[in-house]
Amino acid sequence: MKILITGANGQLSTELKNQLNDSNIDYLALNKSELDITDFNKVNRIILKEHPQIFINCAANTNVDGCEKNEINAFKVNAISAQNIAITTNKIGCKVVHISTDYVFDGEDNRPYREYNVTNPQSIYGKSKLLGEKLIEKFNPKHFIIRTSWLYGEGNNFVKTMLNLASYKDELSIVDDQIGTPTSTVDLAKLIISLMQTEYYGIFHGTCKGSCSWYDFAKKIFELKSIDIQLNKINTKQLNRLASRPKYSVLDNFMLKVLGLNTFRHWEDALEEYLRKEV
Ligand SMILES: NC(=O)c1ccc[n+]([C@@H]2O[C@H](COP(=O)([O-])OP(=O)(O)OC[C@H]3O[C@@H](n4cnc5c(N)ncnc54)[C@H](OP(=O)(O)O)[C@@H]3O)[C@@H](O)[C@H]2O)c1
Repeated sequence: MKILITGANGQLSTELKNQLNDSNIDYLALNKSELDITDFNKVNRIILKEHPQIFINCAANTNVDGCEKNEINAFKVNAISAQNIAITTNKIGCKVVHISTDYVFDGEDNRPYREYNVTNPQSIYGKSKLLGEKLIEKFNPKHFIIRTSWLYGEGNNFVKTMLNLASYKDELSIVDDQIGTPTSTVDLAKLIISLMQTEYYGIFHGTCKGSCSWYDFAKKIFELKSIDIQLNKINTKQLNRLASRPKYSVLDNFMLKVLGLNTFRHWEDALEEYLRKEV
């Protein structure tokens, strides 16, 4: 079995490579300079040359505020590229794993979103990712679209930012009115590797268990690292970010539960392991 992975320098692809290195699965991971997914001809050429059985698209424009400033690039990378991948993989019967986001929901609900709940993205990032989902669904029926949230692994993420800030500040103000679920790339990569070997195509929610605010997340990080720092709660308005974020974007891994494939840990357990091993 041959796997092709895009966005090779990103957080999720780095963890996928780690886990695939421990398996007997053959893979090729390409970074942006080796495979720019916005270039249809390049994607087409590589698919026809490499003939993978599974294509895992980890590449994305993940800069949520940046997407507001550059709408064209957001839709190119997060939507049109998904179409490039779906059309070309479909030609050779190759399965596609595509990663999406909790930001496809508006966050006005107060119970965990299931796969069949109505989407209503409020940011350019969320809108471009939702169109990406639809284009994958339309052009390659052998798809696994996995919506995840608040991802951290090897790379830039909230955990690293908090630890970095704590190295030179003794007080931090963190948003307490956005609720979601921190998710470790370790748990997500493990799910991808098992799901991609099935024929359970469709949309899946894939996040760790439980939920918290960004403030609770930061508090837990410092507690686990025994870092003494003054934390203040602020609200989203006070932070004044360009992109609107959902107030509540907890996802229910309902379809994975139905299929008996929900192996995600509680977010606190996954975070504890991450802080012990990685930072
Ligand atoms: N991070 C989160 O909190 C989060 C939450 C929910 C869902 N997700 C989704 O999960 C997936 C993986 O996220 P991640 O955190 O691993 O992302 P990441 O660390 O930002 O990695 C994304 C990678 O994609 C590459 N890339 C950007 N444009 C590209 C292009 N045109 N062609 C090829 N590669 C390109 C980036 O390269 P450069 O750095 O060189 O641009 C980067 O290496 C994404 O689909 C994301 O939308 C992430």
